[in-house]
Order: sequence, then C-alpha cells, then structure tokens
Amino acid sequence: MTERTFHVDGRLVPESEATVNIRDRGFLYGDGVFETLRVYDGEIFEWEAHADRLARSLATLDFEETMPPVTDLRQRVLDTVAANEFADAYARLSMTRGVQPGKLTPESRVDPTITVIVSELPRGGTDGDDVWDGPATLRTVETRRIPSEALPADAKTHNYLNGTLARLDLQESDADEAIMLDTDGNVTEGATSNLFFVDAGQLKTPSTDLDVLPGITRDVVLDLAREEGFPVETGQYSLAEVREADEAFVTNTTWEVRPVTAVDGHDVEAGPMTKLLAKLFDEYVERTHY
Ligand code: PDD
Repeated sequence: MTERTFHVDGRLVPESEATVNIRDRGFLYGDGVFETLRVYDGEIFEWEAHADRLARSLATLDFEETMPPVTDLRQRVLDTVAANEFADAYARLSMTRGVQPGKLTPESRVDPTITVIVSELPRGGTDGDDVWDGPATLRTVETRRIPSEALPADAKTHNYLNGTLARLDLQESDADEAIMLDTDGNVTEGATSNLFFVDAGQLKTPSTDLDVLPGITRDVVLDLAREEGFPVETGQYSLAEVREADEAFVTNTTWEVRPVTAVDGHDVEAGPMTKLLAKLFDEYVERTHY
C-alpha cells in the first residue's frame, strides 16, 4: 500500500513524517477538538454544519479566536484528500491548543496544532455496499455519559475516554455499540453514534437538551424524516422504551444510517422506516454530491 499523505500545521507530509510535539496539549490533556468528515466525490458532506460545530467546540474550550477562516480549513481537508487521489474518503480534522510553556492552566496566547488525516472510504450509496459489516447490536453499558455540567456534551473534544470506557464495557458481549445512559437513567446515545427508534410509527431520538452530541447525520435524518411526513419526536426516553421499540438504528458520519437488530438481547427489526430513511439518506448524498 502506498504511504498516505496527511496535513500538519499547513503542510502536506507523508504519514511517516506526520508528527506533533510530545508536549502538545491535545496529547497531554485531550485539550483539542475535532470533526470526523465524510468526503463524497471530492466534496465534504455538510461542511457548514461541521464547521459550525467545530467553532462551537472551540468556543467551549475558549480558543475559538485562533480558528483559521472556514474556507482555509475546508481547503486543508480537500488538499489532503486530493493529495491521496481519493474521491470518497473519511477525514478527521483536529485542532488542539498546541504546545504551551505552563502546566494545566491554559495560557491566552495559543498557537494551535491543526491536522488532517484521511483514509479511503467507498460510499455505500443506493446500490453499493455499506461501510459496516452488518447491522448493529446494542448493549446498555454501566459507564454513564459524562454530565454536561462536567464536560459539555455538545463539544466534540479529543477527550473520548467516556466512549472508550463504554466500548470496553462491551468486550465480553457480542454487541458492537453501547447504549449510554445519563446519570438520571435517560437514554442518551452510543459511544460514537446517535440513537433513533420507532415506536408505533413515530420516529424518536433523545433530545440534545440531554447529554447528547448534536450529530450532523442525526440532523440530516431528522430533516429527511420531517420532509417525508413522518411523525418525529425528540425527548427523554427510558431504556424500556428502546428495548420495546419496533425498529431502531444508529447514525454517524461514517456509518450513515445503520440498522439495529438487537438491544440488550431483545430482537429489534430492521424495519420499513429504517430502510426508507437509509434510502432517503443515500438519495440525499447522491443529489448533493454526484
Ligand atoms: N463520532 N455521538 C457521539 C458521541 C459521536 O462521537 C458521534 C460521531 C456522533 C454522531 O455524530 P455525526 O453524525 O456528526 O458523525 C454522536 C464520529 C464518527 C467519530 O467519533 O469519529
């Protein structure tokens, strides 16, 4: 396999030379933010929404004034994809508080570290293969979602220990995505995905007023469902409601719409609303990119 090219602080470099300083706060403290992006036919899916979320995440960490112009960031991603001659790709854009002389307290002068890594990711599309091997099986884990009072859930930071612990909880099971509850026992989301379920013809997903990352895919799916005239509700749900659902699916940038076939050992159907929404999503991608 030929070596990939990545982007580090404004320069395209071979993967083997794509390094950051060992004192970078993104490494020392998880003090950085990122976006996982999907590139379809050389163009970034929902770029404006990702750029807005990146800016909001940076504002939470209070170094948003160092964010380069959005067009510059977009270009770094596109240049990296082009340098690898990919048409359909996964890209991760990261921005950390960089190296600082002090200890934990952040200094106001920030020289951020900005990186882009990419890998080829063929599109499923209306007649291709999905990127996942099969439908998701979910299991509720003991690890609770970090309350937003401690770490705002709407910021996509480098600190993914919460999700990592949730995935470790799955190790002895056959499940491949976690259901994480908040500290009050409400269903929130997966370790790296938003959760939807269908109850008596109504599409439901936990509200972003809870400790939930406002997923870009989640927003697109909600819009598509509303356009199709499906009854949609965002709210506060118990585990029992998800376990008894007629259908369920999870969403994220790489999986797109991924059906769920089991929740805590209860069979769930990859039913008609899931299939239709997956198809509408594929058509939306094709309409906007090809
Ligand atoms: N994760 N919730 C969490 C905790 C996530 O980490 C993600 C995405 C999502 C879905 O968001 P979006 O639709 O914007 O991808 C929800 C990405 C895939 C990641 O961690 O790389």
